[in-house]
Amino acid sequence: MYEGKARAYTNIALIKYWGKKDEELILPMNNSLSLTLDGFYTETSVIFAEEFSQDEFFLDGIKQNAAATQKVSRFLSLVRQQADCSLYAKVTSKNFVPTAAGLASSASGLAALAGACNEALQMNLSEKDLSRLARRGSGSACRSIFGGFVEWEKGISDATSFAQPIASDHWEDELAMIFILINDQQKDISSRDGMKRTVATSSFYPGWLDSVDEDLQKIKEAIQKKDFQGLGEIAEGNALKMHGTTLAAVPPFTYWSPQSLTAMNMVRSIRNDGLPCYFTMDAGPNVKVLCERKNAAAIVEQLQTVFDSGQLVTAYAGPGIQTFKGADK
Ligand code: DP6
Repeated sequence: MYEGKARAYTNIALIKYWGKKDEELILPMNNSLSLTLDGFYTETSVIFAEEFSQDEFFLDGIKQNAAATQKVSRFLSLVRQQADCSLYAKVTSKNFVPTAAGLASSASGLAALAGACNEALQMNLSEKDLSRLARRGSGSACRSIFGGFVEWEKGISDATSFAQPIASDHWEDELAMIFILINDQQKDISSRDGMKRTVATSSFYPGWLDSVDEDLQKIKEAIQKKDFQGLGEIAEGNALKMHGTTLAAVPPFTYWSPQSLTAMNMVRSIRNDGLPCYFTMDAGPNVKVLCERKNAAAIVEQLQTVFDSGQLVTAYAGPGIQTFKGADK
């Protein structure tokens, strides 16, 4: 029996990963850049044992159905191949996120699974190779191996596509991200399906690709200069461009709900009133507000005039993956 456990924190992209050039290897069309956060994480244990006759996956105490288990099983098969192991596994995951918020993240989930497997099977992967492995589970997971600001270098092959931390002199510790949790009952289009449809059909997609490298260069300069306005303006603009591409997909779609627009407008007005803050959004209606730590409480107070306090969660920069010997049974 081989067992291991890992904890990985979620990350939010400030320059988005949006589109794959290789679906099987999960090679992205563009580099992306994220901030790992402390507020939301996944803990995953894995046990490989002779006695198991199939893979099993438990999430938050509940045995998962065939579809959810298949995604995990596909990843385990990759691991088995790489580690030369033929045993089935039991995977037990717990998401530490506000409940019912639609925030369960594939980034923290697949990064934690990769880390737990690395520990259990004593694969002794370097951080770079662990990032490459996590990428095969979910693209954004490759960034959750590291803490703070992280860039995913798109690469041209399995060997060259991985994330690495960006030197920032710990500036991220002065920042915060406020999550505005919006539950809109809309049927979800996963990021995987959304980006696939966009790449295949959106006439705006080439415009996204044309401008993303420049955004990346500028945001890296802003990080080096600790220029919060620069960081926020580029991140907000990049998120809007990503979401713009979905409007020209066939059929078109959007992740925005009326409450998302309310939140975006509030962020603009709080900013115009003198408190610097900027929003970003991913493949769902929640809005994430980037601000300086010193202003977070005042911004939350403003947001509370419209949103319930239960909808607002403040997170700060978080660490890289942590692994543990043994497993939760
Ligand atoms: C909008 O990493 O969830 O959050 O690689 O298909 O698993 P797959 O997609 P995923 O996509 C994340 C997209 C995003 C932007 C980002 O995190 O960079």
